[in-house]
Amino acid sequence: MSILEENLKDAIRGESNARRKYQLYAERAKKEGLKGISLLFEAVSRAESVHVKNHLKALSVLTGREALVEDIVQITEEELNNLVGDTRSNLANAMEGERHEFKVMYKTFLKNAKKEGQNVVELTFNLARQAENIHRKLFSRFLTRLEKNKPIDLGEIHVCTICGNVELSKPTSNCPICDHSPKFFDTIRASF
Ligand SMILES: [Fe+2]
Ligand SMILES: [Fe+2]
Repeated sequence: MSILEENLKDAIRGESNARRKYQLYAERAKKEGLKGISLLFEAVSRAESVHVKNHLKALSVLTGREALVEDIVQITEEELNNLVGDTRSNLANAMEGERHEFKVMYKTFLKNAKKEGQNVVELTFNLARQAENIHRKLFSRFLTRLEKNKPIDLGEIHVCTICGNVELSKPTSNCPICDHSPKFFDTIRASF
């Protein structure tokens, strides 16, 4: 297996696990009555599914074979449930995961894609890396406010369906990461 194929599969595993983990974190925050944080986890979960989709496409282009998430990701429900703590520790864990993806994982993967001259792979890593940095900043902001006992509340949140960027206010201009118009953002509304 080529290094880029390995990198893409690692990234798909990481994003898919994060997507499912954040869904559980959203449910936990909801149980704790933390609506804004629950909504943030839901939005970032959606963003990670955008990354999975983009990486799968890049893997198909790279290998010339259809790539399926089920063939790449293996984590049990039990293993996932073991990753859930209280919302404060879930936010800290999420922030650290995003930091690692931004500063270490995608930084290395991006270098490899550039070296190999694989533009499609480079693009998907680059979009994901920039979105992870936004996610990291959002988790950090929400954690600080929770620790001050003033949790951020939200009624809705917006996710770019092209790159996984997350915005707290309704976007009125093109996505700062992928430059697509505001119509490519999905709005998620609080259901409780
Ligand atoms: Fe992320
Ligand atoms: Fe975007």
